[in-house]
Amino acid sequence: MRTVATKDELRAALAPARREGSRIGLVPTMGYFHDGHLSLMRRAREDCDVVVVSVFVNPTQFGPAENLDAYPRDLERDRELAAGVGVDLLWAPDAEEMYPEGFASAVEVDASLTAVLDGDPERRGPSHFRGVTTIVAKLFNSVQPEVAYFGRKDAQQAVVIERMARDLDFPVRVEVLPTVRGADGVALSSRNSYLDAGERERATAISRALRTAERAVADGERSTAALTERIAAELREAGIEPEYVEARDAGDLTPVSELNGRPVLVAVAAPVGRARLIDNVVVTQPETETK
Ligand code: PAF
Repeated sequence: MRTVATKDELRAALAPARREGSRIGLVPTMGYFHDGHLSLMRRAREDCDVVVVSVFVNPTQFGPAENLDAYPRDLERDRELAAGVGVDLLWAPDAEEMYPEGFASAVEVDASLTAVLDGDPERRGPSHFRGVTTIVAKLFNSVQPEVAYFGRKDAQQAVVIERMARDLDFPVRVEVLPTVRGADGVALSSRNSYLDAGERERATAISRALRTAERAVADGERSTAALTERIAAELREAGIEPEYVEARDAGDLTPVSELNGRPVLVAVAAPVGRARLIDNVVVTQPETETK
């Protein structure tokens, strides 16, 4: 596996693959790999001739209240893990490479998708997603992958990136793969490294509450208010005060009050210790009822 830092090195490294018409897959990451990242890389390895992984802790998606410097980083360990799953090229640019002096552009998806849930101005705000779409557009343009892989844990991010790619005609297929969980049910995230043992134990309530909601739907619950209230109550019982618990259409993120046969995203964000955790499930009214 080769590691490159600059766009010129990246382009030179990919030139032979491009000439040969090889299928290039990209896994965009902020590093500090866990099994969720590795599952995206393994899938890319299965699907593509050349697998590129980018590692860049993108400053423009961090808000003023978020500590960019404290975000966990370990490029040496990342290199070993990526090589172990057969990645061909690790691209780890620095901030100057991605945002040189005078950088003055941004890619923005409509507020209907980016100013809700995490993008609500009272929460991380739409500037978070502007940062995400700007960097992902730059990664797409630099790597020019045929396929790019993202995790379902960041469900809103996936919806926003899919829309950006569609609206702006990026010639890339966006693949969104299932959330990978620890044995205790906690959705894997680099931010889990902020949790101590007690907080990790408390964090298990999030996936348990989401499972309860899934079971409630299987048992006939159709009101999304009932589902989100039940999740919030279960979290409070476990000592977690959720930032939000919301049910929205999984495709366009519009609010949904009753299950209606379309997939509904039930999303949670909650602080646990120093970590702000997000998780979600997608529920659908059973098909037998919608016929
Ligand atoms: O999901 C992430 O790790 C980041 O938001 C991404 C997509 C790599 C953009 O910085």
